[in-house]
Amino acid sequence: MKRIISIILLFLLTLLTFAGCVSQKTVELTSDSKSNSETESGADGTPRESGGVIVVYFSRTGNTRPLAEYIKDELNADIYAIEAKVPYTENDIKYYTDCRADREQNDRSARPEIAGELPDFSKYNTIYLGYPIWHGQAPKIIYTFLESINTGGKTIIPFCTSASSPIGSSAVNLHSLAADAQWKEGRRFAPGTTREAIKDWLTTMNAQKELKLFINDSEIPVKWESNASVEALKELAAREITVAMSMYGGFEQVGALGTSLPRNDEEMTANYGDIVLYSGNQIVLFFGSNSWAYTRLGHMNLSKENITELLSHNEIIITIKYQ
Ligand SMILES: Cc1cc2nc3c(=O)[nH]c(=O)nc-3n(C[C@H](O)[C@H](O)[C@H](O)COP(=O)(O)O)c2cc1C
Repeated sequence: MKRIISIILLFLLTLLTFAGCVSQKTVELTSDSKSNSETESGADGTPRESGGVIVVYFSRTGNTRPLAEYIKDELNADIYAIEAKVPYTENDIKYYTDCRADREQNDRSARPEIAGELPDFSKYNTIYLGYPIWHGQAPKIIYTFLESINTGGKTIIPFCTSASSPIGSSAVNLHSLAADAQWKEGRRFAPGTTREAIKDWLTTMNAQKELKLFINDSEIPVKWESNASVEALKELAAREITVAMSMYGGFEQVGALGTSLPRNDEEMTANYGDIVLYSGNQIVLFFGSNSWAYTRLGHMNLSKENITELLSHNEIIITIKYQ
């Protein structure tokens, strides 16, 4: 009898354990499938996959807005319209009348306030930034925007509309406000530019090759120099270069490129973040400082702490790709 009872107990225990496993597995599957299909609503209410691209624009008279919408549609991106806390009235934008817009554009320190809360930009890697040309430049509210968010490691692609002016220096003058971002070349469009033209621009731009640096597989935001050495590096990196680096002097990582690039050495003090060509055939990444004759290749847009953490140890392999 005792034996029968213990067999029944063992059977019940096995059954309970099995039931426990099944219910746990069911919970896991449910939570997995939820995270794979998480969606959010676009401005038009249609659900879509959340992504890392956002179109941010300011449009006072409505010319830039449709272009921003086309980009959003083509890339299935999110969109955010910058509005001024104190809206621009008709009188405020009557240019060449010493109107509010004229005065702001002439005032280096003008930073018109943005209405409401900014979205959480930490989930976006790429920002398409649209604006009208105001006296040859981006409106100062765009400056306010760039100074209000953390742009580290993000790619920013400016676009603008104007009556006739080119994008000119308007985009380049924004770079210093987000020096830690990767800026792509901007583009000016005439008011009324079609969806097709915007689509063509996006296709051409996304096919553009970029020179990319990876340290042990992490992509590093780099502002590359425009010189013959970097052009030659691009050619070399078209087939992907991998360089085993060695720590030297407690301030740099150095590695042989395996070939010589054109050089234009200058006496300089290289500092943390700088990427230079040494002796024509070695690449040097600085996490400290040193004075020598080098050719500048670029600069890593990361904080001193991040650069030190990345580079101040052995067994560093860098990969450079031009793809
Ligand atoms: C204050 C102000 C300054 C402007 N300055 C220029 C300019 O320098 N060059 C130009 O071609 N258009 C200029 N424009 C025209 C706008 O760039 C053009 O109408 C633009 O498409 C407006 O875009 P939006 O409708 O999205 O605001 C100016 C407009 C304003 C209101």
